[in-house]
Amino acid sequence: MPAYDLDSFRSGFPSLKSGIAYFDGPGGTQTPTRVGEAILRTLTGPLSNRGSSLVSQTNAEEAVHAFRSAYADLLGADPSGIVHGRSATQLTYDFSRHLAKGWGPGDEVVVTRMDHDSNVRPWIQAAERAGAAVRWLDLDPATAELDLSDLDEVVNERTRLVAVTAASNLLGTEPPVRTIADRAHAVGALVYVDAVHFAAHGVVDLRELGADLLVCSPYKFLGPHCAVLAASPALLETITPDKLVPSSDEVPERFEFGTLPYEVLAGATEAVEVLADLAPGRGTRRDRLVAAHAAVAAHERALRERVEAGLATLGEKVVLRSRAAERTPTLFMTFPGRRSLDVSRALAERDVLAPAGSFYAHETFARLGLDDDAGLRVGMAPYLSEEDVDRLLDALGDHLAT
Ligand SMILES: Cc1ncc(COP(=O)(O)O)c(C=O)c1O
Repeated sequence: MPAYDLDSFRSGFPSLKSGIAYFDGPGGTQTPTRVGEAILRTLTGPLSNRGSSLVSQTNAEEAVHAFRSAYADLLGADPSGIVHGRSATQLTYDFSRHLAKGWGPGDEVVVTRMDHDSNVRPWIQAAERAGAAVRWLDLDPATAELDLSDLDEVVNERTRLVAVTAASNLLGTEPPVRTIADRAHAVGALVYVDAVHFAAHGVVDLRELGADLLVCSPYKFLGPHCAVLAASPALLETITPDKLVPSSDEVPERFEFGTLPYEVLAGATEAVEVLADLAPGRGTRRDRLVAAHAAVAAHERALRERVEAGLATLGEKVVLRSRAAERTPTLFMTFPGRRSLDVSRALAERDVLAPAGSFYAHETFARLGLDDDAGLRVGMAPYLSEEDVDRLLDALGDHLAT
């Protein structure tokens, strides 16, 4: 049993009343009523552009401050280093353009075959425009681990930036970001961490991770569709985006183009509160978030082990591709002789949602040699139950017996 009241937690999610078992959390989680209400309250309350004169202005101002404070707590960062973005993809494209202004021939950028394409392609395209070279950290398909045997050669004195994921959204693998970051910092390179998948399952601490810049997306952990970039304000001071003349040149405002979606910020803040409330008690919000993550991790690990035990009984009908030593509770699998899309459809007929695809992990998918057949991704989430897992396993077993 989880360290929180699962039934009471689940009752806060209107979409769970449909009876659907949602194993598609890595694509985006279900949203609690509290988050929806925060959005409604902010949007329909007195609301204007930011300012300090009238309540409608201070409401907007407060939504921004609350958001920066909540994500500073969630990510172990400084509120002045929290930047809102529409998506992690958009933020990474933006920052690749800002940072590449300082790159030129002779410089190198390092990307990995473990990453979602949003932390690969923007860097490749920015490097190409700047005349910089691209180097790769490979993935070992047999172990599902990032291959770091040539780390010191790939990350060298010419490296300007290393872009690496904190967890693969396809395999769940958690690469040793700190080891990579230490090497990058030893040669004076920046480290850009994609924590979009990881942040739903583990505690992020910007400094401990060794990340100079880090992105995550609240819609992967109970929030609305938006994204957050965290970095130290001192680093952000050194980065100069193209911007409108009248818009603020302050950090972090200068990276946020146009009017902010205050209601979305309020929803994203509430998602952090919902998580923190999983560990009620005293202590700072950061303390409660750390405790809540431990409770969620224990619950999700138990569910993952239940799925894995069930899959083991299906023998060679299932090939589990998620096998790294350190990984999130996200399981990617293929079915010899079957199309994963058909398996996904058969599960959907039983109200079990586990999508098939490559999930934009374009390089990982190709490296696994899976060009022809998509795989199935089964992701754990804080609101899933043992009954959900049993329904998944029953539906899967029945389909594979046909
Ligand atoms: C690991 C990872 N990185 C990046 C992204 C892209 O995030 P966004 O939709 O916020 O651009 C995703 C989305 O699935 C992801 O799982």
